[in-house]
Amino acid sequence: MRRLLSVLLAMLLTWAVPVVPAHARTAHEVTYDRYSLMVDGRRIVLQSAEFHYFRLPSPELWRDVLEKVKAAGFNAVSLYFSWAYHSPKQGVYDFAGVRDVDRLLRTASQAGLYVIARPGPYINAESSGGGLPAWVKTVPGRARSSEAGYQAAYREWLHRINPIIARHQVTDGGPVILYNAENEYQVNTDAAYMQDIQDQARADGIDVPITTNDCCDGGSWSSTWATGPGAVQIPGIDDYPQSFECATPDVWGPWGEGLTERLRDDIPVFAAEYQAGAIDLGNAGYEKCRELTGPAFMKFFYKNNLVTTGATMFSYYMGYGGTNWGWLAQPNDVYTSYDYGAAITEARRLTPKYAEFKRQGYFLQAVAPLAKTDPVATPPAPDNPALTTVARANPDTGTQFVLVRHTDRAATTTDSATVDWAGHRVPVQVKGRDAHVLVAGYDLGGQRLVLSTSEIMTHAAIGGRDVALLYGTSGSPGATVLRYASQPSVTVLDGSVTSAYANGDLRLDYTHDGLARVLVTGGGRRPLLLLLGTDEEAGTFWRADTDSGPVLVRGTELVRSASVRGDTVRLAADTVAGEVEVFAPGQVRRVQIGTHDVAAARTKSGSLLGATRAPGAVRLPELTSWRARAESPEAQPGFDDSRWTAADRTTTTSPHPPKTLPVLYADDYGYHYGNVWYRGHFTATGAETTIDLNAITGRRGNYLVWLNGRYLGSAAGGVQADSGDQWTPPNPDPGPGHFAIPSGLLKPGAGNVIAVLVANMGHNDDWIADDLRFKQPRGLVAASVGGTPITWKIQGAAGTDPVRGPLNNGGLYGERTGWHLPAYADKSWKNAGGPLAPGVTWHRTAFRLDLPDGQDVPVGLRFGGEQSPAYRVMIFLNGWNVGQYGGDIGPQKDFYLPAGLLKEQGTNTIALAVTAEQAAPAGPGPISLFAYGNVRVD
Ligand code: GAL
Repeated sequence: MRRLLSVLLAMLLTWAVPVVPAHARTAHEVTYDRYSLMVDGRRIVLQSAEFHYFRLPSPELWRDVLEKVKAAGFNAVSLYFSWAYHSPKQGVYDFAGVRDVDRLLRTASQAGLYVIARPGPYINAESSGGGLPAWVKTVPGRARSSEAGYQAAYREWLHRINPIIARHQVTDGGPVILYNAENEYQVNTDAAYMQDIQDQARADGIDVPITTNDCCDGGSWSSTWATGPGAVQIPGIDDYPQSFECATPDVWGPWGEGLTERLRDDIPVFAAEYQAGAIDLGNAGYEKCRELTGPAFMKFFYKNNLVTTGATMFSYYMGYGGTNWGWLAQPNDVYTSYDYGAAITEARRLTPKYAEFKRQGYFLQAVAPLAKTDPVATPPAPDNPALTTVARANPDTGTQFVLVRHTDRAATTTDSATVDWAGHRVPVQVKGRDAHVLVAGYDLGGQRLVLSTSEIMTHAAIGGRDVALLYGTSGSPGATVLRYASQPSVTVLDGSVTSAYANGDLRLDYTHDGLARVLVTGGGRRPLLLLLGTDEEAGTFWRADTDSGPVLVRGTELVRSASVRGDTVRLAADTVAGEVEVFAPGQVRRVQIGTHDVAAARTKSGSLLGATRAPGAVRLPELTSWRARAESPEAQPGFDDSRWTAADRTTTTSPHPPKTLPVLYADDYGYHYGNVWYRGHFTATGAETTIDLNAITGRRGNYLVWLNGRYLGSAAGGVQADSGDQWTPPNPDPGPGHFAIPSGLLKPGAGNVIAVLVANMGHNDDWIADDLRFKQPRGLVAASVGGTPITWKIQGAAGTDPVRGPLNNGGLYGERTGWHLPAYADKSWKNAGGPLAPGVTWHRTAFRLDLPDGQDVPVGLRFGGEQSPAYRVMIFLNGWNVGQYGGDIGPQKDFYLPAGLLKEQGTNTIALAVTAEQAAPAGPGPISLFAYGNVRVD
């Protein structure tokens, strides 16, 4: 992908036409009223997709994702900025490499997207600590409050991130159009904190409107505190009507109607986070989440929301989910993949949800009167009670938007009705769990649309005529009425469409079937090419703007952008073998995809039709020659821990008091992420019979215990209390793990050594702002050996990886000594394949890739065979911790290896840290590489 993008860049430079229309670097004014946001007085409907750069640690791929977002008809992207991702410890910040958010904002601008900037300080996002760095756990003062210690901490972050955001604002010619303060801050209602976040932002130069995303019932920053300290300019609402129960994708809105409320009369209705996927709480797998939130859900809920509430600001969570690589995951709700069942998959593939976004997004962008509408009290009524209509109209143009849906929102039947509307009696039909937004009284380019029972996807003036793309459910009836001064001439170019002209109105009747094409000329207007498709046909179209006006493209996998020079239209497009049809400005006679000429012939529709090229076949190498080596020397009594940190504190800032002393909380000693080793030295009396330990690891974590080098066993670590009631504070006491001391192992009167390897699966979030969940300790929280005094040493990660950042590594021996790094010399290791002993064993192999230039082939690592409860695996690709696999970690068996981390042309190293809590006959396998897809990118 990297080489491919540089090819694109080179093309760009040689042709000297921007691939995408970038925001010009001139200042703009952002204002708003009760209807919509406005940029320089021009109303916009904000259609945004959420993207987490920190879940795609490959800046080269940010462009790919953002171009895909743009091509789906979004005009904005919502970006959380993760404090934890940039700050390994207080006072230390890193905005380089994969953390270069300046580059991210430039890329968003180049992709032609506005940005909703969401720097928290708290972001939630199922990310470790909800985005709060783990060091904040050791800072005095309640998190998410105005208390002193926390205040100093979050101000530090804001003064780093705000200036970067500030220099990319719309008001300075950049893409940032809104600034979101905090996140669903509804429990710890500290107005001074909410106000201070905004004051800091203003002081740092933020001058775009400030928003916040509210959730949940009860008081909030949008209603109870709509004015006074802490109130924001444009509060919005988060809504996840479809729940997160991916195992039952046929449920319908168990969490409500999903209607975004109007909060105030002076601001637009803002769906600050609207469900566009789900976390996989029940381990059903993300394909089920994609089904749960699939096109049917999108059609019904998004359209219902649009017309019922008149919202003009939408941000869909997520547009692209990405990966919880390293220790990024909050452990209670997610595992490595954060695919989210989103429209764009973790491996950046487009799904049927993407096509639905495109149908709806193009409509929002093409039909300007949508940005200013009021409810219509008496919408045209269907003559079948199974169907219901809701309508809005633009008070200036009179354009009507009529939602036709089932009366019973959960109905699964197909129902039909006729409606008397705008002087015509027309048929409507809605299949189960669908809805249509129909338009009447609309100046469609140079045409006058009286009404249509097909939905408008887009329209554009191309080559001296209007080209309009309308669509409806396959097999359903459609009627479109257009007004003319005199009878126009109608040519049906394709499909079956009847026409009748009376009293100035041309009525076309048809059944949605494939793609019908009708050319209407004369009648006192410029020509109209009407494309009447099914949902599926409409989904194959792309629209791109060029300096010579818009082009429409049918076919290809993706049109990223287009440009016109002379008689040639050049598409930046992804292709497999298929057709491409281009509707381009009149002078265009030639089509290029990238630098490749497409042999294109003129069609009777006036378009150019040609064939697209298939990508070259790709073979991925087999993974062979695995080498292995066991470690865990820390378990041995003679191991030298003299350089480890003494765990000898007797006090802690934690709100969870220690049960035994010294305090053993890993965070208190600066070890925040990944595994931590403890070594406890004691002089035995000889009377000790058990070792009693409490460790808190977060969900799916465990700990392993040795005495004098002998393995005693493992236990599950404590988790955030999961009573099913999210308001219950966490239970910091997982209950002790009792490890019986085998007879003869203890050395009475002499030095004995307990060694404990404790996983840290990530930090709880602070969703309810109660401080207690977030500050639940990690590591050992209590230890005793029959009351005998123990002297403790602790060792976690050996510093922060300067490239891969604070979340990449914990404190395994192999991590501390670089076994995960590609340069590590493993030649002396023995061939893998033998049995696994309890403790940590590493497996390494290398492979060469030579993926063809100009193709996008996302690659994954697949664990075949059954997941074993005996061990868990941390996966390193060229030193990057790309995920965790194992019996009790989650259902995931395929792990995405993003280009950038993956050398697509070169040698790659996979290192697996396998932690066995029981002996096992063999390690993981078979392990293979696979491709998620293969397209040409020209
Ligand atoms: C919201 C929150 C997001 C994310 C989402 C669920 O409540 O604001 O950050 O956690 O829920 O995926």
